[in-house]
Amino acid sequence: MKIKKAVFPSAGLGTRFLPATKAIPKEMLPLVDKPLIQYCVEEAHASGIEEIVFITGRGKRAIEDHFDISFELETTLREKKKTAILNKIRHISEDLTYIYTRQKKALGLGHAVLCAKNIINNEPFAVFLGDDIIDAKVPAMKQMIKVFTKYQTSILAVQRVPKKHTHMYGIIKGKKVADGLYKVEDVVEKPEKNPPSNLAIIGRYILTPEIFTQLEKNKKGSGGEYQLTDAIKGLLKTQAVYAYEFEGERFDAGDKVGFLKANIHMGLKNKETAVELRKFIKRLF
Ligand code: UTP
Repeated sequence: MKIKKAVFPSAGLGTRFLPATKAIPKEMLPLVDKPLIQYCVEEAHASGIEEIVFITGRGKRAIEDHFDISFELETTLREKKKTAILNKIRHISEDLTYIYTRQKKALGLGHAVLCAKNIINNEPFAVFLGDDIIDAKVPAMKQMIKVFTKYQTSILAVQRVPKKHTHMYGIIKGKKVADGLYKVEDVVEKPEKNPPSNLAIIGRYILTPEIFTQLEKNKKGSGGEYQLTDAIKGLLKTQAVYAYEFEGERFDAGDKVGFLKANIHMGLKNKETAVELRKFIKRLF
């Protein structure tokens, strides 16, 4: 089975970035010159995904406009022979199919994924959280799809986090089966104490369609929201789930410090900004 569809839950309220996110979706905040969500869509594209399913909400229209063709802008750029910029804005719009559906109320990540049920049908699919930015030689989702191809079951991207941060993540208990690969025995959402490990689930998943049965049974969990982790816990009773420690550097750009670090990282990689930015940083110390 091939992973062709990716769900992008993008209906969260982005409260940690208020007031910046009052009128602009968090997903549209820029890292250098591209919105956060574009980095993830590009990762999906480079991993062989063909269809992107955005779960949006009120105030998220900018995401639809961003991935649409902008006729006026493209005509102007063409007339002015600004081919390089034109290519930058076109590339991603053309190769992928975009589908939008709304989560009417931000009831949690699990509820957001459930909103994609009728679009996904009965096939395994990827999930991307648009504020987790991963810079990797081989795109993180591509690494995961490789693992999926072998095991044909749900794969969770995990990363080791300091013990003092485990209360911020879904944490797995797992048995190592290969280098960087664990058979998941349990998952706990944001453990207050006694985390089963320091392997945290981050914003990339491959899920089998059976997750929808679990999401439908889901009850409100941590933070009074419908959690995806709780549905994965249910899935574990019927199917094997693996956790994969991907290779690459991840930034939690949904958090202020993580966002600033991601901007510096990308700024230092960008030809237009690297030299000046490096000089500026050196001057600070
Ligand atoms: P976050 O926990 O980062 O929440 O959601 P948030 O609302 O985006 O941001 P803060 O915490 O208020 O600052 C993780 C992912 O799940 C999506 C978000 O859009 C984000 O991609 N999400 C969350 C939904 O789509 N719907 C929800 O009800 C909750």
